[in-house]
Amino acid sequence: TTRRKLIAGNWKMNGLKADGLALARGIVDKLKTAPAPACDLLVCPPTSLVALVAEAVGGSALAVGGQDCHAKASGAHTGDTAAVALADLGCAYVIVGHSERRTDHAETDAVVKAKAEAALAAGMIAIVCIGETLAQRDAGQTIEINRSQLRGSLPEGSNATNTVIAYEPVWAIGTGRVATPAQAQEVHAAIRAELVQKLGADTAGRMRILYGGSMKPDNAKELLALPDVDGGLIGGAALKVADFWAIAESC
Ligand code: G3H
Repeated sequence: TTRRKLIAGNWKMNGLKADGLALARGIVDKLKTAPAPACDLLVCPPTSLVALVAEAVGGSALAVGGQDCHAKASGAHTGDTAAVALADLGCAYVIVGHSERRTDHAETDAVVKAKAEAALAAGMIAIVCIGETLAQRDAGQTIEINRSQLRGSLPEGSNATNTVIAYEPVWAIGTGRVATPAQAQEVHAAIRAELVQKLGADTAGRMRILYGGSMKPDNAKELLALPDVDGGLIGGAALKVADFWAIAESC
């Protein structure tokens, strides 16, 4: 495959200044002292720490991203963060449509799509998250749900350079219950098939599709070896330098 893997840490709402600095500096130290892993590396701190972390990684191969952005470039949206503001702080990526946003803030596919378009307009790479709940999987709707979320959430102007897809089965997030390699590969292949329909075979063949949901050092190798898994979106295990680095080394 020509797709370079991406290992992305989503710190979620965790950490104060000292924690964020230690984590970012720890990864940068690894980059300086250990053999470079065969993947791109990204950390997505909470918005409160983005500026600090962006400064700490400055110039290294560790990229920084946001966890969400607003669809509008500015205006009366108290508490929200514009994509251009994240880009201005040094973010190269922003996650949109994480299942926690879809659940906690009732974000629809249309909202996620608009946010992804704002990310692209700001010159960032959008990481568009999709995934089924356990009830949907048990009802046999997994492929249909992921196809439909993908169709509804993919930004206009999407290509393999400006968009990354993250498949995160909701039942695997933070539960310690990881998708089996067969379950992950089945959905990733279906996502790629849908991308072929929507964007053509060339773009679909180059677009990265990450797996997220209880990825850890002890299961990463197997998941990252699957033909359509092009990296990971890591929650809990991204909060420890050693675990995050071990996952990166599994690429
Ligand atoms: O964005 C990351 C995912 O929600 C996965 O979280 O690795 O803690 O299960 P987790």
